[in-house]
Amino acid sequence: MAVVYHRHAYGDRDRRDMDANDPSNDPSDDDGTNSDTSEDVVEVAPNEIPGYFQERGGRLFHSHGGCPYPLPVDAEEQQRLNGLSALVRRLIGDSSVGPVRDLLALAPGEQRRVVDLGTGTGQWVLDMAREFPHVRIYGVDIVPIATRYPPPNVTFEMHDIMTPLRYAAGSIDMVHARSITMAVSAFPRMFGRPLNSGMQVRDYRALIQEASRMLRRGGLFVSCEWARSPAMEDGSDVRVRAPRACAFFDAVRETLRVRRGLECVAAHIPQLLVESRRFISVETKAFHVPVGDWPNEPDRKELGRDLRELMVLYARSVFPLLSEGPSARYAGALVEDYIREIRSVSGMVATCYTVHARRV
Ligand SMILES: C[S@@+](CC[C@H](N)C(=O)[O-])C[C@H]1O[C@@H](n2cnc3c(N)ncnc32)[C@H](O)[C@@H]1O
Repeated sequence: MAVVYHRHAYGDRDRRDMDANDPSNDPSDDDGTNSDTSEDVVEVAPNEIPGYFQERGGRLFHSHGGCPYPLPVDAEEQQRLNGLSALVRRLIGDSSVGPVRDLLALAPGEQRRVVDLGTGTGQWVLDMAREFPHVRIYGVDIVPIATRYPPPNVTFEMHDIMTPLRYAAGSIDMVHARSITMAVSAFPRMFGRPLNSGMQVRDYRALIQEASRMLRRGGLFVSCEWARSPAMEDGSDVRVRAPRACAFFDAVRETLRVRRGLECVAAHIPQLLVESRRFISVETKAFHVPVGDWPNEPDRKELGRDLRELMVLYARSVFPLLSEGPSARYAGALVEDYIREIRSVSGMVATCYTVHARRV
């Protein structure tokens, strides 16, 4: 199969007001969305792909000047994303929370469609594509790090998720957004003003609006996000028990706020969905996952060991960000002390929030 990365070429056109039921609004189409071969989409030539990356300090990043996303996208980070994808699957016992099997059940004459926002390596898309071979799944990211040879029911395309997507209103059954809190912010402090580097403020509420535009009535929005703060499973004071972990996450949050205009949205998504008035049946769950092999139960011990190693990779991926912020002078020490602490302190947990909600 050919390379199926696609680059969006809308320019200033805004599809927000388009109505899927109005045929005059549908410039497509082989499958009800705008076709992959329509004038709105161009295929990225293989020789253009290196231009989507830039190297800094020995690590590879996206080169999209307008996006604040600060983590590398190289092989080490991709290993972390794929490992975390597998871990979340073990945690929730499925590819996704919510009534996904009913929603995506094979329905004669109807094409089901799913969009994954900030797809990364596309691991979630590929898992879903295997489980639901009759469903068309679109993975959207600013960098082409997913496979260039996906299965036939998958399209990976490049697009900034904070600008209108190409899918017609009401044409999507499920929108999935996982681990995108370093791409989109809660309650931006500098709302409406560009940040110092020319990056635009990115508000999760706008993402919710765009998801609700794309989704059909009854469609499903699913999110999964990790909190950016450690905790102790027994409720004891984490600042006393794990001071290095707290210092590390304090610095990460502060640098994201000051340098990238990003506040962590993880715990606020249910509230934002309710406030949007576009979603009902908002259900959320917080998983407290061990960091380290301290649990006695074999399953949790293994989960904790795996998460700890993924957090080591996370700390290394966050180092370049810390090096540009208020803690730049001791960024290395913050990372190394954090890694030492998660290897030695018992009882530490990370919190993973899942949310699912139905489009009204
Ligand atoms: C932490 S990764 C998560 C990847 C995937 N969702 C997962 O769970 O494995 C975040 C991804 O969001 C992408 N991203 C960041 N800002 C974006 C934007 N404005 N539009 C599209 N993708 C973006 C990054 O390139 C990265 O691949």
